[in-house]
Amino acid sequence: MSTYRVGVIGTGRIASSIQDEMLSKPSFVILPHSHAGAYSAIPETTIVAAADTNAERLAEFANRWDVANTYSDYREMLQAEALDIVSICTPTPSHAEIAEAVGASGVKGVFMEKPVAQSLGQVDRVIAAFEATGVKTVINHTRTFDPYYRRIKEVIASGVIGDLHAFMVHWHEGFLFGSTHLFDLLRYLTDSDADWVFGDIVEGESLFDPGGIGTIRFKNGVDALINVRPGHAAPLEVDIVGTTGRIRIGGSLFPELYSKDATTGELVKRGFPGAVWGVSAMTTAVLELIASIESGAKPASDVYDGRAAVELSVAFHLSSKAHAPVALPITDTDFEIQDPWGRK
Ligand SMILES: NC(=O)c1ccc[n+]([C@@H]2O[C@H](COP(=O)([O-])OP(=O)(O)OC[C@H]3O[C@@H](n4cnc5c(N)ncnc54)[C@H](O)[C@@H]3O)[C@@H](O)[C@H]2O)c1
Repeated sequence: MSTYRVGVIGTGRIASSIQDEMLSKPSFVILPHSHAGAYSAIPETTIVAAADTNAERLAEFANRWDVANTYSDYREMLQAEALDIVSICTPTPSHAEIAEAVGASGVKGVFMEKPVAQSLGQVDRVIAAFEATGVKTVINHTRTFDPYYRRIKEVIASGVIGDLHAFMVHWHEGFLFGSTHLFDLLRYLTDSDADWVFGDIVEGESLFDPGGIGTIRFKNGVDALINVRPGHAAPLEVDIVGTTGRIRIGGSLFPELYSKDATTGELVKRGFPGAVWGVSAMTTAVLELIASIESGAKPASDVYDGRAAVELSVAFHLSSKAHAPVALPITDTDFEIQDPWGRK
């Protein structure tokens, strides 16, 4: 069995402490649910070093996850540690610059936080940095690796709801920070890329990652009707509508399945076939990164999927400004959305 030397850059919430929050949340999350938690659960990976500009958070992280070497400057860590895998868990505005240093350092794989960056131009810097040295990537679009949502994909594919027609979506964050989770999940569930977007950014909200409403038309003809807004009471709710049935899913809901009665044609609530393997999303993400390093297998969400998710965020903004549908691919690589998340 290979052993991978891991370094973590940014030792805050998603790197470590977010899984403590899960204990008091009404949800179906399978632990571990942090970068460090996932590495600690996998025998093939050992966190040998961590870097953070905040000394207190760094010390707390090293103590909790038993990490030998700590650095206030991630560049020193990259030089000193001969790492195989690096997690990039810093606030989004720093991702492109850090990715360039990580790519040049000779690592084999990167587990990177979403959104990859705040503009398509920044995402392209990240991609160029990783392609230059053949670095494999996984982006932490957590739901795409989650057994709960993987089961939903299987049930759609089983044909029980007929031909997939539409997703009706509520989400409680803005078009960039949280909605890249959503966009990646929808692309995964439909197995299709977006064709065009028609959106309206809600006026009067902060310029930092506002929400709004709109439509995504996928190339396979499936539509997604999007209602996203910071502060919404629905953390994530999706009504998946097909020709012979519906599945209703949500962050804290057990999935509901409805399908037409063969004789009457009436929609009837069914028991949901919900058995899943108990492997956490973030553990699966790391295992898919290792598989990608070892065999070239494509992870469910890599940096190219990360680009597609940011492209959809930008498309909603551009459509809203133009008051018109916007066809993909988006050519404006400078348009930048501010991700409000993260601390120094
Ligand atoms: N996948 C998810 O569900 C999820 C959830 C939360 C956050 N995120 C993403 O994770 C990233 C971090 O968010 P967070 O909530 O963990 O933030 P956080 O503020 O809790 O942690 C970020 C850490 O990075 C450190 N840092 C900042 N600049 C640095 C630098 N140049 N070098 C080294 N360390 C630096 C900060 O001191 C801090 O400790 C963001 O991109 C965010 O969008 C993803």
